[in-house]
Amino acid sequence: MHIIVIGKEGQVARAMAERASTHRAETLLLGRPELDLGEPSAIEDILRRTGGDLIVNAAAYTAVDQAEAEPGAAEAVNASGAGTLAGAARAMGVPFIQLSTDYVFDGTLPRPYREDDAVHPLGAYGRSKLLGEQAVAAATDDHVILRTAWIYSPFGRNFVKTMLRLAADRDEIGIVADQIGSPTSALDLADGIYGVARNLLENPQEGRLRGIFNMAGNGFASWAEFASEIFAVSARLGGPFARIRPLSTADYPTPAKRPGNSRLDCAKLEAIHGIRLPVWRASLEPCLLRLIGEVSGR
Ligand SMILES: NC(=O)c1ccc[n+]([C@@H]2O[C@H](COP(=O)([O-])OP(=O)(O)OC[C@H]3O[C@@H](n4cnc5c(N)ncnc54)[C@H](OP(=O)(O)O)[C@@H]3O)[C@@H](O)[C@H]2O)c1
Repeated sequence: MHIIVIGKEGQVARAMAERASTHRAETLLLGRPELDLGEPSAIEDILRRTGGDLIVNAAAYTAVDQAEAEPGAAEAVNASGAGTLAGAARAMGVPFIQLSTDYVFDGTLPRPYREDDAVHPLGAYGRSKLLGEQAVAAATDDHVILRTAWIYSPFGRNFVKTMLRLAADRDEIGIVADQIGSPTSALDLADGIYGVARNLLENPQEGRLRGIFNMAGNGFASWAEFASEIFAVSARLGGPFARIRPLSTADYPTPAKRPGNSRLDCAKLEAIHGIRLPVWRASLEPCLLRLIGEVSGR
């Protein structure tokens, strides 16, 4: 299968490239400068010239706090840009996979969120991603929206890399302990996306394979528990270590409000697509092995 992934340097895009051969896929990453979601006029033309069997949108305006200051910029990429891509996929007659987020929810439910729970984003980023979901659904029926959460990987910027960096010169780090979610390896997510892509391509008429699905690492943790596990594994591997001081969200004010409960119930994905991502703790060690190796030159 020929997969076009939008977003060249992002965590998920790079993970899709790394996992392509495992899934016998030919994967082409497209991103800035040649394809800019903020410049929609050229998108359909570029995609038509490129071809492909399926398009995955892994590009987004992901600066959650900065989006509060420039909601229009977030919306241009995450809503209009996503909708334009989905329209181009429809014009090409190919399925479209959109990445979305736990931040479409306000986190007030006392259980993991299911796909049909009421959405209510707390900030500009979440609102722009929700508008993106709606724009994609309006542009093409042949779509899958994958809501994911708390992505980490050896690539780009993420919580695991930030923890290792901070531990280089701090003995103790204060981390929020009252937000719960599912740490998700971008490499596991990439495997899951290829699985969904194959199902869509092999079953072009199957409506139940289309629509919204949650796809996140298996199991839950608070940010503080996630950080504790990072340092437990890092110390075992000879990497940096710091103690964790649990904080409440109120102790750590940020421009964008975040949901306290970011847990995603992924049962629908397993029931319909036959896909379940690995337990998040199991995927952390291979990522840390790479990152610690990079830092120490091992
Ligand atoms: N990271 C998370 O924890 C998380 C959680 C839930 C959902 N998600 C969603 O998962 C998806 C992938 O996230 P990620 O962590 O892989 O993101 P990421 O590492 O921040 O990468 C985002 C990519 O989008 C590209 N991009 C931004 N604006 C663009 C534009 N105008 N035109 C073209 N490309 C543009 C960036 O390109 P440049 O390199 O040129 O800046 C970057 O390569 C996104 O849809 C995100 O909303 C992420």
